[in-house]
Amino acid sequence: MTGESGAPDLLITGIGELTTNVSTPDDVCGTIHDAAVLVRAGIVAWTGPTAEAPDAASAVPVVDVDGAAVTPGFVDSHTHLVFGGDRSAEFVARMAGRPYAAGGIRSTVAATRSATDAELRARLRALVAELRPQGTTTFEIKTGYGLTVADEERLARLAREVTEEVTFLGAHVVPEEFQDDPDAYVDLVAGPMLDAVASHCRWIDVFCERGAFTPAQADRVLAAGAARGLGIRVHGNQLGPGEGVRLAVARGAASVDHGTYLDDVDIAALAGSDTVLTLLPGVEFSTRQPYPDARALWDAGVTIALASDCNPGSSFTSSMPLMIALAVREMGLTPDEAVWAATAGGAAALRREDVGVLRPGARADLVVLRAPTRAYLAYRPGVPLIEGVLIGGRGVAG
Ligand code: NIG
Ligand code: FE
Repeated sequence: MTGESGAPDLLITGIGELTTNVSTPDDVCGTIHDAAVLVRAGIVAWTGPTAEAPDAASAVPVVDVDGAAVTPGFVDSHTHLVFGGDRSAEFVARMAGRPYAAGGIRSTVAATRSATDAELRARLRALVAELRPQGTTTFEIKTGYGLTVADEERLARLAREVTEEVTFLGAHVVPEEFQDDPDAYVDLVAGPMLDAVASHCRWIDVFCERGAFTPAQADRVLAAGAARGLGIRVHGNQLGPGEGVRLAVARGAASVDHGTYLDDVDIAALAGSDTVLTLLPGVEFSTRQPYPDARALWDAGVTIALASDCNPGSSFTSSMPLMIALAVREMGLTPDEAVWAATAGGAAALRREDVGVLRPGARADLVVLRAPTRAYLAYRPGVPLIEGVLIGGRGVAG
């Protein structure tokens, strides 16, 4: 039977542990044991104990997952997947002791500018093909390696071919040609560049950091984006303490990302706000910076998302299971909290209610694990545990 979406109707039974993310005070993951999920036309129609499946489900083809754990698909709310070139030598040098610096971004800018659309598209599609079988069912992509009007426009256009969640990051770093007049570059970003990309984008982002953009420059860019109807995201407090988090909260950003260096004022501001803190443990892993204390942040009431930050410089991994494992091992979250942050947390960071949860009305985006519980995502790091992935009720080829 096929619904209007073209996706087959389906009753998934034999789920040993279903993560719905319909949270209760005792269970952030909203767990149902011995569960089933009814999918109709690509949408979750019902979840519950298998024994209570509705009569209507008896007419639908059944897939029995034999005790496996099922979670919502991962929501990777922060990536930079459109770029040219290779920075493996920078990584190797870093592992030998060279520190990470934002300046490396410029080498990817040069490689991206000289790549053709076809080359960028091929790389992008390969990365998308890589992340889906790892359980990522929704992903955001930032521009930011073009930094001219024409190059930012084509990065946004290419990103829009593969996701609705496109973010304009013209304010990533000041390009070399504007080195002596960064404010003129901010004028370009907030004016003609924004005009050129806005139709492709849902979000605007800025790297508010020493070596990138000052709080005043960042605020100018964010205000221009907001005036065009774009939602706000901020890269902040990655390389040192600073104003990024406070600026994001003051501007009502959906998310502020990195948060490697936070003080008590930042934490209180986040805890009292709707701004999600998106932690990117792949960056700390790949740059040897200290991991933020996610335990303390969660306990303070900060809403946390986990994302890969997949990019060629600071974190060249697309693996959300790795983010979960690092958040547990290195940042103090429980496996349940980390799985929530990689699914519902990412959805909150993108202000999405249709993904990151498995409840009636949500998109049928889910992951079947080769494991009896979601805790295995942290317990068995580096092991391919993704048995199957559905996006909108359709299976994803590996
Ligand atoms: O999220 N913080 C700024 N931008 C990227 C790094 C990009 C790069 O090094 O190429 C980040 O870490
Ligand atoms: Fe980033």
